[in-house]
Amino acid sequence: MAIQDPFILLSLLLLLLLLISFISTLIYRTSTPQCTCKICHAYVTSTWSIHFTNLSDWYTHLLNKSPTKTIHIHVLNNLITSNHESVQYILKTRFQNYPKGKPFSLILGDFLGRGIFNVDGDSWRFQRKMACLELGNLSMRSHAFEVVNDEIDRRLVPVLSSFSKSSSQREGLDLDLQDVFRRFSFDVICKFSFGFDPRCLDVSLPVSDLAVAFDLASRLSAERAMNPSALVWRMKRVLNVGSERRLKEAIDTVDAFAGEVIRERNKLGSCSGHGDLLSRFMATTKDPEYLRDIIVSFMLAGRDTVASALTGLFWLLARHPQVVATIREEVAEVEALTSFDQIHEHHYLQAVVFEGMRLFPPIQFNSKFCLENDTFPDGTFVKKGTRVTYHPYAMGRMESIWGSDCLDFKPERWLKNGVFLQETPFKYPVFQAGYRMCLGKEMALVEIKSVVISLLQRFDIELATPVRTPRFSPGLTATFTGGLQVRVSERRGKT
Ligand code: HEM
Ligand SMILES: *[C@@H]1O[C@H](CO)[C@@H](O)[C@H](O)[C@H]1NC(C)=O
Ligand SMILES: *[C@@H]1O[C@H](CO)[C@@H](O)[C@H](O)[C@H]1NC(C)=O
Ligand SMILES: *[C@@H]1O[C@H](CO)[C@@H](O)[C@H](O)[C@H]1NC(C)=O
Repeated sequence: MAIQDPFILLSLLLLLLLLISFISTLIYRTSTPQCTCKICHAYVTSTWSIHFTNLSDWYTHLLNKSPTKTIHIHVLNNLITSNHESVQYILKTRFQNYPKGKPFSLILGDFLGRGIFNVDGDSWRFQRKMACLELGNLSMRSHAFEVVNDEIDRRLVPVLSSFSKSSSQREGLDLDLQDVFRRFSFDVICKFSFGFDPRCLDVSLPVSDLAVAFDLASRLSAERAMNPSALVWRMKRVLNVGSERRLKEAIDTVDAFAGEVIRERNKLGSCSGHGDLLSRFMATTKDPEYLRDIIVSFMLAGRDTVASALTGLFWLLARHPQVVATIREEVAEVEALTSFDQIHEHHYLQAVVFEGMRLFPPIQFNSKFCLENDTFPDGTFVKKGTRVTYHPYAMGRMESIWGSDCLDFKPERWLKNGVFLQETPFKYPVFQAGYRMCLGKEMALVEIKSVVISLLQRFDIELATPVRTPRFSPGLTATFTGGLQVRVSERRGKT
């Protein structure tokens, strides 16, 4: 019997929702440890937000005060550390004991499937090997360089020009640089990995259904993890209501895109001569679902992270004109970037990029799960099943690592006699460290540096609202709430 009466339908739905919330509170009460320690109390009652706007800043404060640089949020069964010895222990020494784990692969499973970010063991090892071959290949590196610089010259620069003060049509309109960078890095990663051009960055700033769906899927998946109990979202998923319904629709849009990329590639056949990442994987499997997962993972890996790094960096640069001047001097001295491997020749610029991501790491924290009882080098006991988080954002702001000027933006701290010296990745795990370290680091650095050089040579960029301090929106990667609004003007005759 179909229920036709809207009133009955509505009441039924209401009843169902009440039931769900009742059951979930019950489960929440019984399944979460009741803890009344000061930290848990502040967490549960959200009183931390009286003094801190961003959760990460509160964690940083607690970690700075902690003698072991490790804290335990009992109600979340979550150990958080900013101790570099513990970080090394988790990511390298006892790597096998700290996999990504079931809880996350379930939460992110609908979106990421069996893609590299969401698997452990053999499936991870295989995908890592394939991606390593691809990203380490010399001819691929020059291809990456071309893709990046083509996107800069034909799209990024024209967009900034059209918004600049000296442009006759538009009188110095505010431009959201964060939005521009997300479009930019989306185009780049799609062109590079799958030979497909989504044309997101364009003077008309078009709305891309794909990009919107991708953002939504990534945000809603992250929000699942913030539910007190997995049962809440699971029930919503079964009933296909609320955020779970929107998540499913967003994932359908992304799937349709991935399906099209695969179909297009199949049409071209194996003789297409494309040596890109997708063809490498397609040579080993025909399973469209698996290929879809790989496509989604690389979109996630290469897009939001780079855009986030650029956004944080341009916010800092706008507030440090002296740093901008020094970059311009260095770029004028050293020849222009003409190849992938030349990125190491600009030592000051390299220091600027690393310093920017120290204060604004694109991935602020990252969690694993403990398989068997263990003890950190700092003496902290880790019980089996505990969620273990290392926190690059907090680590970038530890006095014990960077000294008392840790909150200042000082690229010089990375230079010794003008030469860039890298910190151990365990103290600076912005690209993670150990066995699962980021595979796209070189590619990301080329992208970021190429953008900085091109934009600083051609434009002066000011913040539209100078006093604003950034706030972060929740999500898998750090984004500024409200974007990064700037005013751009062309530097006539100075290039
Ligand atoms: C500034 C930019 C970037 C940052 C900060 C960054 C950071 C990270 C981090 C923290 C991880 C570990 C994630 C985890 O295990 O949960 C990771 C993994 C990874 N990244 Fe990046 N990434 C960046 C850009 C890129 C780019 C452009 C690509 C691709 C071309 C890429 C490809 C990957 C891959 C394939 C992995 C998985 C490695 C594995 O699990 O073995 N990344 N990245
Ligand atoms: C986070 O919140 C604080 C206010 O507690 C604010 O001063 C800060 O600028 C915000 N963002 C960052 C990136 O620190
Ligand atoms: C690198 O990629 C090119 C183009 O696809 C290919 O011809 C070459 O064999 C690859 N080299 C290695 C070492 O995989
Ligand atoms: C792990 O530690 C807990 C708490 O100390 C203990 O109850 C449990 O027996 C230990 N498990 C193993 C396998 O040692």
